[in-house]
Amino acid sequence: MSSKKTILCIGAGYVGGPTMAMIALKNPDYKVTVVDINADRINAWNSDNLPIYEPNLLDVVKKVRGKNLFFSTDVTLGIKDSYIIFVSVNTPTKNFGHGAGYAADLQFWEKTARQILHSSDENKIIIEKSTLPVRTAEAMESILNFNEKGISFDVLSNPEFLAEGTAIKDLENPDRVLIGSRETESGRRAREEIVKIYSSWVSEEQILTSNVWSTELSKLTANAFLAQRISSINSISAICEKTEADVDEVARAVGTDSRIGAKFLKASVGFGGSCFKKDILNLVYLSRHYGLSEVGDYWESVVKMNEYQEKRFVLNMLKEMFNTISGKRIAIFGFAFKADTGDIRESPAIYIVKTLLEEMANVVITDPQAINNAKIELGETLDDKVSYCTDPYEAANNAHAIAILTEWDIYKKLDYKAILQTMQKPAFIFDGRNILNHKELFKLGYNVTPIGKPSLRHF
Ligand code: NAD
Ligand code: UDX
Repeated sequence: MSSKKTILCIGAGYVGGPTMAMIALKNPDYKVTVVDINADRINAWNSDNLPIYEPNLLDVVKKVRGKNLFFSTDVTLGIKDSYIIFVSVNTPTKNFGHGAGYAADLQFWEKTARQILHSSDENKIIIEKSTLPVRTAEAMESILNFNEKGISFDVLSNPEFLAEGTAIKDLENPDRVLIGSRETESGRRAREEIVKIYSSWVSEEQILTSNVWSTELSKLTANAFLAQRISSINSISAICEKTEADVDEVARAVGTDSRIGAKFLKASVGFGGSCFKKDILNLVYLSRHYGLSEVGDYWESVVKMNEYQEKRFVLNMLKEMFNTISGKRIAIFGFAFKADTGDIRESPAIYIVKTLLEEMANVVITDPQAINNAKIELGETLDDKVSYCTDPYEAANNAHAIAILTEWDIYKKLDYKAILQTMQKPAFIFDGRNILNHKELFKLGYNVTPIGKPSLRHF
């Protein structure tokens, strides 16, 4: 019989790894194991070269790895040995068959459910950590509880709210932890077990409990609201560019209204990341599935606005550079979907680089963490048109333009005077994150195009 203080997490990705490292750190009396079918990932988790870049993650992992945190590929043994099982496998948008392009692809999820049943011979608590469509827990329960082994499973939902780049900070000081369960006696008992784990470092008021369906829907809703704020301010950035209003000024004025709040009002080249688009499309699918087509259309417009923002950025580049970039060298500063991560999933840089290549530009990509992922995404076939270098000065050398696509701190501190000497003239900077001092750059001699502010041109 496995001890009640044994935790397994299936899926050693951006969520499973950091989350379990924090749970192990805060609960030294629990044994925490993280398993994955991807052996390379597990090997990396067992080394000092972790499979994901996340500030301070290595420090946390080093404190607990080999003590009460273990990484392994043995999923069967992990299931057998653990009483509490978090499932944090990927749930991407389905790209085939019914619901393609909108619905969540639950194949990894369902495989996991079947594997848990196959390898279990006693009652267990199963927790959805992955982001899932509403009522997925019901499907999980159906697979698990209609068994001939005489064992039962409580299925709970405990969605993760961490953001990449700040995962450790978010896990250490979460705004809230949400735990949903069935309102049965056994459901409530299982919920208490999970509350106990988090309450070793999260205050009681910040641990919200709820029913499973509300919890599942809350996660999709939180991401949809966050993304909606970005699309809203980005839509205003387009108006600013036509009217000489300044989107940062507008955001500041709007955000000081305490009912609105200041966060997530930074106009940008567009939102990326593995969650926002996927989760909104999932919400759109759910809405339409329940016959709520207006609701689906409303949320889909958030994604469409994001695509429009990415497209507008490239069109602005073309327009500013005399409607042709064929043969011009363009330095892309940042390929990650945001700063402090090497993750490029749904990064606006992907669309932007591909479109620049269609326009026959020569693209050179620099990024402190994402170059390997960029190479995989863009593939070998584009080798003659794309190059990569870690040094931004080298990337800008001989370039006609620089496009800032990720808000890495280092790009704010470069010697742009020296860079200008090495560039083709007229030199252009397209600041897709509004992180640079545009007036200073203009004074140096650059032509500068920010987001949601008038371009500064020397001609
Ligand atoms: P990921 O792709 O980085 O990791 C998922 C891991 O699961 C992969 O390593 C994969 O090999 C493994 N896996 C798949 N099937 C498996 C199986 N049958 N057995 C063992 N391992 C298996 O994904 P992620 O970014 O960590 O996201 C996981 C979930 O968390 C998703 O549902 C996502 O929506 C959600 N989420 C992600 C974030 C984020 O910032 N990335 C934040 C909150 C929630
Ligand atoms: C998001 C949610 O924030 C997190 O709670 C959830 O658990 C997972 O999805 P993440 O995608 O990691 O996290 O990063 P986030 O900080 O939300 O940024 C997403 C995208 O929006 C990035 O491309 C970022 O650059 C962009 N963004 C964010 C803006 O363009 N403007 C803003 O004001 C904020």
